[in-house]
Amino acid sequence: MSPSLNPSALARLLGEWNLGVEPAYRELADVVRLLVLDGRVALDTALPSERTLSESLGVSRTTVTAAYRHLREQGFLSSGQGSRGRTRIPRLTPLGTTVLSDPGLTTTGRTPGATSPGLAAPEGLIDLAYASLPASGEVVHRAFAAALTELPALLPGFGYDAMGLLPLREAVAARYAAAGVPTTAEQILVTSGAQHALNIIIRAVAGRQDRVLVEHPSYPNALDAIRAAGCRAIPVAFTAAHDAGTDRADGGPPALAWDMHALQATMTQQRPTMAYVVPDFHNPTGQLMPDVQRRQLVRAAAAAGTVLVVDETLRELNLDGAETSPVAAFSPAVVTIGSLSKSHWGGLRTGWIRASETMIQRFAAARTSLDLGGPVMEQLAAAHLVRALDEPLPARLSALRDNRAALLELLAGHLPGWETGRPAGGLSVWCRLPAPVSTALTVIAPDFGIRLAAGPRFGIGGAFERYLRVPFTLPPEQLETAVLALRSAQDRLDAAPQLRRTLKNAPALAIA
Ligand SMILES: Cc1ncc(COP(=O)(O)O)c(C=O)c1O
Repeated sequence: MSPSLNPSALARLLGEWNLGVEPAYRELADVVRLLVLDGRVALDTALPSERTLSESLGVSRTTVTAAYRHLREQGFLSSGQGSRGRTRIPRLTPLGTTVLSDPGLTTTGRTPGATSPGLAAPEGLIDLAYASLPASGEVVHRAFAAALTELPALLPGFGYDAMGLLPLREAVAARYAAAGVPTTAEQILVTSGAQHALNIIIRAVAGRQDRVLVEHPSYPNALDAIRAAGCRAIPVAFTAAHDAGTDRADGGPPALAWDMHALQATMTQQRPTMAYVVPDFHNPTGQLMPDVQRRQLVRAAAAAGTVLVVDETLRELNLDGAETSPVAAFSPAVVTIGSLSKSHWGGLRTGWIRASETMIQRFAAARTSLDLGGPVMEQLAAAHLVRALDEPLPARLSALRDNRAALLELLAGHLPGWETGRPAGGLSVWCRLPAPVSTALTVIAPDFGIRLAAGPRFGIGGAFERYLRVPFTLPPEQLETAVLALRSAQDRLDAAPQLRRTLKNAPALAIA
């Protein structure tokens, strides 16, 4: 059954929404919209009736009626006749349709500009909330065609395998061995993507109230997984690169860097059960951890008895050819998460965990309460993809480099007050804004044709109001439209400082 919100619960979530800056209906609609965008009010939730909400908020029924109408017009509320409206996110064109000029797209029957069912994203809205790419279409399609011919041989079996299909595990293990990390198939557990892998690991090693060290900012879904497991996330902030002795050579604004002193001190003092880090083109900052720090990290975790979990989901998106060793090269105790989502396609839902055999057995046992193994066809196809993992990368990286250059130029030209740095890889730029307006920008963004993920989604306790992640997954023409929209949205906030304050006070800043 779909959830519903009672008026007092919604009133609590709304907090102090009515600051008298804009018409009340508008302020109410803006804050509800933010709650939906931020995930604090789940999709398909029935909002209270106009009468009960107006009573609960102490405002006129006309105000609530107008606010709901506004939300309906913007696509954030369903328009069921007579029934209570349910929360929605406006349908957006999936990024995958027009993002990169990937020759494979047309072979899968998807044409630029077409919409495919299911994935969120516009009637007209450009989606900057996701940092994902369309499929390496032709390569993926070919792998599935090959998998189909191999399927009959497996049909006599039961089809269940909590570890994953052996040919895929062998292919992943061989890939690690080639990267200088000797690995056997028994050290690989196949998962339904990196997010699934993280959930399995948390389930196996961390209990309620256990401390889990995280970078701050970090990948929002990882923070959500840690929080959902009842663990306590212990954030360690990044520092400016010059403080860490890795200043930028090109004279641009200082990049962020891992604060090794803080990481080591936190490990020593807090002795977290687990640490979750993304050293390869970190999401959202795009930073790459140098080998010397990888070694320090491994040592600190070992000394503290902390299970070090390294998420390598973005490792293949190495735009400038930087050379680093996988963290697992520095210690057999490291638990590594990998995925095909960024190199090939998120729709494959295929990833893996690499760890010691003993740990892998623990993960396999923990998994069975979540699922009983991955789908066979996907794994057969994934085995082909992993064996030729580099095949789609040159075209993908080349398009991303062009997009990154275009985005940085556009931001410098239209939003000169935004500090951007230059990520060495990954899919996004972590922008420092001249004022703490990230949530306010996110709330008004749909009015300007774009959808954003507010900086605080990447932090704990409302941090990162001064930051916005801007992906460079779109082609330059669309990035130009998006950056001009960002500029217009910022101009609107600059022209109405009161509005900025109202939206900043919106209650949905924290995700933990
Ligand atoms: C750091 C990081 N980890 C995990 C994921 C999720 O990966 P998957 O699609 O394999 O679950 C992402 C996706 O953006 C990510 O950036």
